[in-house]
Amino acid sequence: MRKPVIAGNWKMFKTVSESLSFLDKIIPACKSLHKVEIIICPTFLSLAPMAEKAKGTNILLGAQNTHWEKEGAFTGEVSSYLISDLGINYAIIGHSERRGYFQETDEWVNNKIKAALNFNLNPIVCVGESLEERENGQTRKVVETQLAGGLNDIDLNQAGSITFAYEPIWAIGTGRSATSSDAQEVISFIRRWLSENYNMETAQKVPILYGGSVKPDNIGSLLAEKDVDGVLIGGASLKEDSFIEMVQIANIS
Ligand code: PGA
Repeated sequence: MRKPVIAGNWKMFKTVSESLSFLDKIIPACKSLHKVEIIICPTFLSLAPMAEKAKGTNILLGAQNTHWEKEGAFTGEVSSYLISDLGINYAIIGHSERRGYFQETDEWVNNKIKAALNFNLNPIVCVGESLEERENGQTRKVVETQLAGGLNDIDLNQAGSITFAYEPIWAIGTGRSATSSDAQEVISFIRRWLSENYNMETAQKVPILYGGSVKPDNIGSLLAEKDVDGVLIGGASLKEDSFIEMVQIANIS
């Protein structure tokens, strides 16, 4: 049984003090909810103080991006090595906003996944198509290309430590979520791809999340789908009450 995952992607929102006061509210509210994996991905600035405050609780933290080199002259970048030193557990890799606004390629995604695994960070690898690609019937082809490029030279053992997120670009921040059956269809395709390119055991083991306009009122139906193991939430993860409500729903799903 895969444990449901609720991951909040805060993007470029919340000061350090706002991030810490969010934690103050959700730690007691989520304390007894052990049937769900709770992850928050704040800005780099908030990672260290939040990691300190979340120590010993069931709230895990993730970065929103990483650089693949261990250290070096890469002005403005933060590496998996530096992040994992804080006791952070996850890193989002290949989010469509990184691919779109910052020209991240599948090759970069691949380098980042390898570095994250090397430094004991669990990558949350995002894949998904644009509206135009969906309307042209290219969803599977786009997702398959992103998977093949992102996982190039990643072995069976490493692949088993990855969390995947299907995030159709047209559903992100638009209020227009994929239907639960759209999410199920693509996520089961990803699982099949993993079973063909790795093996059945790995495909059954890895969590595959859905992301794109997830809110308290649609999370239940998404999680009810057989292959949807959790959600990556942007906007609705920024408010304590809606975040807690979604964690509670996942805990009984
Ligand atoms: P959204 O963002 O929930 O605001 O659509 C999801 C994401 O970008 O991961």
